[in-house]
Amino acid sequence: MTGVRVAVLGIHGHGASHVRNVARLAEAGRAELVAVADPQGATDLPARVQVFAGLDDLLAATEVDVVVICTPIQTHVPLATLAMRAGADVLLEKPPTASLAEFEQLSAVVAETGRACQVGFQAQASEATLTLARMIADGELGEIRGISATGKWVRTARYFQRARWSGKRRLDGVDVVDGAVTNPLAHAAAAALLLDGSTGVDDVRSIETELYRANPIESDDTSSVRVTTSRGTKILIAVTLCATEHLEASVIVHGSKRRAVLTYQADLIDGVKYGRADLLENLLAHRADPSVPLYVPLAATGGFTRVVEAVRTAPDPAVIPPELVDWEGEGLDRRPILRDVEKWIDRASDDLALFSELGAPWA
Ligand SMILES: NC(=O)c1ccc[n+]([C@@H]2O[C@H](COP(=O)([O-])OP(=O)(O)OC[C@H]3O[C@@H](n4cnc5c(N)ncnc54)[C@H](O)[C@@H]3O)[C@@H](O)[C@H]2O)c1
Repeated sequence: MTGVRVAVLGIHGHGASHVRNVARLAEAGRAELVAVADPQGATDLPARVQVFAGLDDLLAATEVDVVVICTPIQTHVPLATLAMRAGADVLLEKPPTASLAEFEQLSAVVAETGRACQVGFQAQASEATLTLARMIADGELGEIRGISATGKWVRTARYFQRARWSGKRRLDGVDVVDGAVTNPLAHAAAAALLLDGSTGVDDVRSIETELYRANPIESDDTSSVRVTTSRGTKILIAVTLCATEHLEASVIVHGSKRRAVLTYQADLIDGVKYGRADLLENLLAHRADPSVPLYVPLAATGGFTRVVEAVRTAPDPAVIPPELVDWEGEGLDRRPILRDVEKWIDRASDDLALFSELGAPWA
C-alpha cells in the first residue's frame, strides 16, 4: 500500500465518516489509514491500523503525514498544535476554535510550522456555494440587501447526552461554545460569510447576538445573530434546534434583482444540484502541489470565529418561557418544540431582523 499516511483522532462520533473517507481514498491508493486515537478505543478496524488512546502515544509510535481531528471543540487547538509541530498537515473539524484568542494562537502555529490546516466546513467545497458566491460577485442578483442563514432543526436529549461537552459553553474552566449558531448550524453562518466574500477575521464590522434555550443545557438552541460585514452587508442568522420537524438548513441571498436559496447540505441553488469536492482529497492535492489552494484554510474561518467570539462573550442564553414550549417523546427521544419558531425564523430572514425586533414571544 502506498499513499499519504493518515491518522484520525476521535472516531466514534462524526469521526466515523472520516475513517470511511480515508478507507475510500485508500482503495484508490491515495492514502493509508495508519492509526486512530480515541480514549474509547476502537473495534472493527483492519488489523494494520494501530489504535491509541491519545495523540501523544500515536506520534511517539508512528509517523503520520496528515492528522484528521474530529474531537470535542475544546480539544481542537492543543491537538492541532501537537500534530502540526510534529510535522503533520491537519484536517480540523469545525468550529476550529472556541475563541478568537485560540484562533490567533492556532494561526501562529500554522505560520511557525508552515503546515496546512484545512477546516471541516465541507459546504465551502460545494460547487453550489462557490457558484452562488461568483453569481453575487458578478452582480447577477443585483444589489445585495442582505443574506440570511436559517436552520430549523430537531435535536433530542440523545444528542445533548452523548458527550460531556455537548450543549456546554464552558467545561472544566475551558471554553467550548457548543451552541446552535457555533456548532450544529455553523455551516450556515460560515457559508453566508463566504457568499459575502467576508471570510477573514477583519471582514466583520459588528455582531449583535440574541441567544435563547428551551433545552436544559448551557448553550443556545434558538438564536438570532446579525453580522454586519466590513463591506456593509447584513447577515442575519436565525436558527433553532427546537423545530417541529427537521428541515435542511438554507442560506438565502436577498438581491435587488432576485433572491437565491442555497441548500448547502444537498449542494443546491434554487433546487438545482451541483457537485462537491472532498476536503481531505483537496488537502492531499495541496500537499502534492502547494499551488493547489485549500478550500478552507484556517485563515478563511476568521470571520466565522468572530461570530464564535461574539457568542462566547454574550450573556448566557435566556430561558424560553415553558408555556411556549411543547415537549414530545420520552427518555433520550424527548425534545422541545418551540411554538411557531418556523414562522419567526422566516420573518427574521425576510426582514434581516432579530427576534426581539420582530416581537417574537420569547424575546
Ligand atoms: N463537518 C460536519 O458536518 C460535522 C458534523 C458533526 C460534527 N462535527 C464536528 O466534529 C467534532 C466532533 O463532534 P462529534 O459530534 O463527533 O463529537 P462526539 O463527542 O460525539 O465524538 C468525539 C469523539 O472524540 C473522542 N475524543 C475525545 N477526546 C479525544 C482526544 N483528546 N483524542 C482523541 N479522541 C478524542 C471521543 O471519545 C469521541 O469518540 C466537533 O468539532 C464537531 O463540531 C462536524
